[in-house]
Amino acid sequence: MQANGPSELSRLQPGQTVLLRPESPIYRGPYESTVLGHEEAGMRIAVPIEEGKLVLLPVGTAVLLEALTAEGEQRFHVRVCSRRTGGERYLVLEPEEPVSKIATTQLQVPVWAITSGKGGVGKTTAVVNLAIALAELGRRVCVIDGDLGTANIDVMLNLAPQYTLTDVIAGRRHILEVLVEGPRGIIVLPGGSGLQELTELKEESFAHLIGQFQVLERYTDLVLIDTASGLSRSVTNFIAAADEAVLITTPEPPAITDAYALVKVLARAGCVLPIKLLVNRVQAQREGQDVTDKMIFAAKRFLQYELHGLGYISEDEYVGRAIREQVPLILEYPQARASQDFRDIARRMLGIEQARPQPEKDGGARGFLRRLRSLFVGSSGKDPD
Ligand SMILES: Nc1ncnc2c1ncn2[C@@H]1O[C@H](COP(=O)(O)OP(=O)(O)O)[C@@H](O)[C@H]1O
Ligand SMILES: [Mg+2]
Repeated sequence: MQANGPSELSRLQPGQTVLLRPESPIYRGPYESTVLGHEEAGMRIAVPIEEGKLVLLPVGTAVLLEALTAEGEQRFHVRVCSRRTGGERYLVLEPEEPVSKIATTQLQVPVWAITSGKGGVGKTTAVVNLAIALAELGRRVCVIDGDLGTANIDVMLNLAPQYTLTDVIAGRRHILEVLVEGPRGIIVLPGGSGLQELTELKEESFAHLIGQFQVLERYTDLVLIDTASGLSRSVTNFIAAADEAVLITTPEPPAITDAYALVKVLARAGCVLPIKLLVNRVQAQREGQDVTDKMIFAAKRFLQYELHGLGYISEDEYVGRAIREQVPLILEYPQARASQDFRDIARRMLGIEQARPQPEKDGGARGFLRRLRSLFVGSSGKDPD
């Protein structure tokens, strides 16, 4: 059956039952819902419920909507354009945009590498909470867990992924089978040792993987990678291949020293990415400002490298508490100081993203993979001193 034109969506009446078939890797449906009414942005429907659980389709999800009307069964291609998750919950659906427009707006997926010179400074905590904060700002976020260290993203979010990127690389699983859903619809791609394996792939396997990442891009506006810490070439190449890099440090001298050492390695390797500094565990704004000023000054003076301040996260006992309880801080303790800081940083990240020049043709997650590949192929494979 032919799908209906966009204007006909407004003919569906409040109280009308509709069936939703999302084009999503994690929500498959069909889900039943009810039309609540129409507003300027689109048609408002009730949040579907499946087995007693709310199905909170993320903003951006494309959905095939079916409705049985007096004229028979009608179908509409729609997209979730907003949602409300408070007391009064609903989704707003808008008619799907023409394909040409989607092609240009959907495939610019910036990749942010979240990194640090030293482990244990709060990378994974930042990735998890920033991802949720960004999702609450309406972005579809994919998190790639690239750190093989402790306290991985799946542990922090109490998820139990069955497969990892390694299974995708080995051809055992499709990327959509490996993704798991975290809170607020964030998508988590468990990296396993896969991110390292990426760099050793043969050309044909690599091309295959790029195809799978292309699928991922359809469901994502922004990718955050929790990179390993340290100065090995595998880490620095990841950063160099990303669109944006966030370097996390705490105010403690060993963390600052290691963060500076990482900038030095990147500067020597000819990396031109403007790095954003995030100072975690600050007792006061003043402390965060001091660390940022000193790092920016030293990098400019001694390495001729430009760093930018992204902000500070307060030292907050609720961070440790949330980790022990395996719940995201920002959801469980939204009023905690650190939660408020994460929300501020997320807003700043979006400001940066909007200010970015238009990505070149090779932008997005696939561009990231290609850049990564060229960096590894072009390197001696040895770690820098
Ligand atoms: N803002 C903060 N306030 C208090 N403790 C923090 C904060 N950020 C991180 N931590 C503590 O530091 C530890 C390491 O954090 P984690 O995110 O796992 O670091 P990384 O991923 O860099 O190794 C956590 O167990 C947490 O208790
Ligand atoms: Mg970690």
